[in-house]
Amino acid sequence: MSTLQAEHVYKVFGNRPDDAVRALEGGGDRAELRADGATAAVIDVSFEVEPGQIFVVMGLSGSGKSTLLRMLNGLLEPTAGRILFDGQDLTELSGRELRRVRSTKISMVFQHFALFPHRNVLENAGYGLEVQGVPRADRERRAAEALALCGLEGWEMAWPDELSGGMQQRVGLARALATDADLLLMDESFSALDPLIRRDMQDQLLELQRTLKKTIVFITHDLNEAMRLGDGIAVMRDGRVVQQGTAEDILTRPADDYVASFVQDVDRSRVLTADAVMTTTRPHRPGVDSCGCPTVTADTPLADLCAVSARVPHPVTVTGTDGAVVGSVPQDRLVAFIGDEQRAPVRCAEVAA
Ligand SMILES: Nc1ncnc2c1ncn2[C@@H]1O[C@H](COP(=O)(O)OP(=O)(O)O)[C@@H](O)[C@H]1O
Ligand SMILES: [Mg+2]
Ligand SMILES: [Zn+2]
Repeated sequence: MSTLQAEHVYKVFGNRPDDAVRALEGGGDRAELRADGATAAVIDVSFEVEPGQIFVVMGLSGSGKSTLLRMLNGLLEPTAGRILFDGQDLTELSGRELRRVRSTKISMVFQHFALFPHRNVLENAGYGLEVQGVPRADRERRAAEALALCGLEGWEMAWPDELSGGMQQRVGLARALATDADLLLMDESFSALDPLIRRDMQDQLLELQRTLKKTIVFITHDLNEAMRLGDGIAVMRDGRVVQQGTAEDILTRPADDYVASFVQDVDRSRVLTADAVMTTTRPHRPGVDSCGCPTVTADTPLADLCAVSARVPHPVTVTGTDGAVVGSVPQDRLVAFIGDEQRAPVRCAEVAA
């Protein structure tokens, strides 16, 4: 059973939301509803997130990401549809039950993380626990542990204004981790950071996730970020999910022109791995698999695969973790993949096929 499930979730703001949902279910148009004073922010969204997964919701500003996230933690009630967390329907809980779930099982990290200026870093990181009524000593121990996980050991007694933006965002992450919540909801949490610090935070999150194995829903408008972090990615447009899949699915088979326009800006060589390009059907040349040339694994990024391919005079051998050959990558295939694989090869009059 998955930890988090959204089933045909709708959120309409404004006039007669229930009528608007019925109209949308019947194929009605979002723009027409707008003219009637109803904003359909989230339309018929369904997905499942398995425990330990990072699920990324990607889309332009106004596509409905934050509204969706606020329904996931019960801050907003869906106009229609269900949200199941640990098998429990959030929409059926009383206000009190919902507040308990929200304070113990769910943590949020926002884009501009507001630290309390007159509390030190340790007190800021322990704030979620304070709200839960956790005694001081316990709270400080857990907050210190979370800060250490986020690379802030030694900064416990510092004041927020002594920290850089990146470090403040780390305190935000530590606050979310300190509560032991299983579900982490992150709304553009790294979007305000400088590119290098942002990349650092992405690495830190992936590193943390290897041991903590939280269930994370991460929102971003940046497809590169989505692809670095997401085990699964949903692309939203005008309230709807237009494509759902892995980074590789989206990159190699964009569902429509909208998704394709995002994909153009993605560095394919860093997102795609040997797995996407290797062939398992073509036999290796006899003797080549054991020739001693460098090999790669299925999860080697294409950028690194290119570097190997440039030095090896035959298709690069792909091995499994046990060293057994699982496939190979011919150079022409690799080059085509990094460029535009959709287009047919050109026949040259001077070079015989
Ligand atoms: N409380 C609200 N009342 C009315 N309209 C809202 C409200 N919250 C969001 N919206 C509208 O819903 C749409 C989606 O907004 P939002 O979920 O914030 O998108 P995103 O996070 O992708 O930028 C927008 O058109 C926005 O104006
Ligand atoms: Mg938003
Ligand atoms: Zn060789």
